[in-house]
Amino acid sequence: MSPDAPETAADAVASLRDRLREAARPEPDVSPLDPERVPDEPLALFRSWLDEAIDGDVVQPHAFVLATTSTASGPTARTVLLKDLDEAFWFASSVESPKGVQMTEDDRVALTFTWEAQGRQVRVLGTASAGPRDVAEADFLHRHPDTRAAAIAVPQSAEFDPDEADAALRAARTRLDADPDLVPADWTAWRVDPVSVEFWQASTGRDQVRVRYERVGDDWRRASLWP
Ligand SMILES: Cc1cc2nc3c(=O)[nH]c(=O)nc-3n(C[C@H](O)[C@H](O)[C@H](O)COP(=O)(O)O)c2cc1C
Repeated sequence: MSPDAPETAADAVASLRDRLREAARPEPDVSPLDPERVPDEPLALFRSWLDEAIDGDVVQPHAFVLATTSTASGPTARTVLLKDLDEAFWFASSVESPKGVQMTEDDRVALTFTWEAQGRQVRVLGTASAGPRDVAEADFLHRHPDTRAAAIAVPQSAEFDPDEADAALRAARTRLDADPDLVPADWTAWRVDPVSVEFWQASTGRDQVRVRYERVGDDWRRASLWP
């Protein structure tokens, strides 16, 4: 045991609690969120925050947590990558994956973007639907060949035998070599049309500001939320 190691389980718990309490906090170097000076609709603000995350060298600024649900599964969540943004948030995945099956059963989803270094979080509620086939095809064909081979070798999230993985990948590469434009039928470009978008900004010190937009017909209703 090293001289610094805690001696008992209780010490270990106390030490972890102390370390968590002292964990580094962000020191945001971005403009504060002023509820009086935000756009009338949320996607303009989201786009400007995403731009600032990209310009601020946030690692994977387009990563977000996607939460889905179904009667059988209950809620589940995982990280995916934003592929585009227009009036909807776009990402790509298999319709046959667990999340794809859940979104097919219940289209309500929650998205959470966190740009910790900038003290920012955006929470989106919306409905997911499959986008046009040509968008899914373009997404798949832009992927690295190894990623494409992995996507067709074994169904996403399926249990597999590691002894058979190499052979499955080799077979997938052979299929792609023979048909470079192959796009599996289950590959899907998903769009999420937002009904609620909430912005959370930690400003200097311990202050936080929250602004939520909610869809009302063709308009957005805006409110400040107590942090
Ligand atoms: C940073 C990061 C980005 C990811 N991007 C995607 C993605 O864009 N699409 C995707 O299907 N899975 C992506 N994944 C993998 C998912 O988190 C998840 O493991 C996979 O989609 C299976 O999820 P499911 O079993 O809930 O369907 C990503 C994982 C990480 C950590």
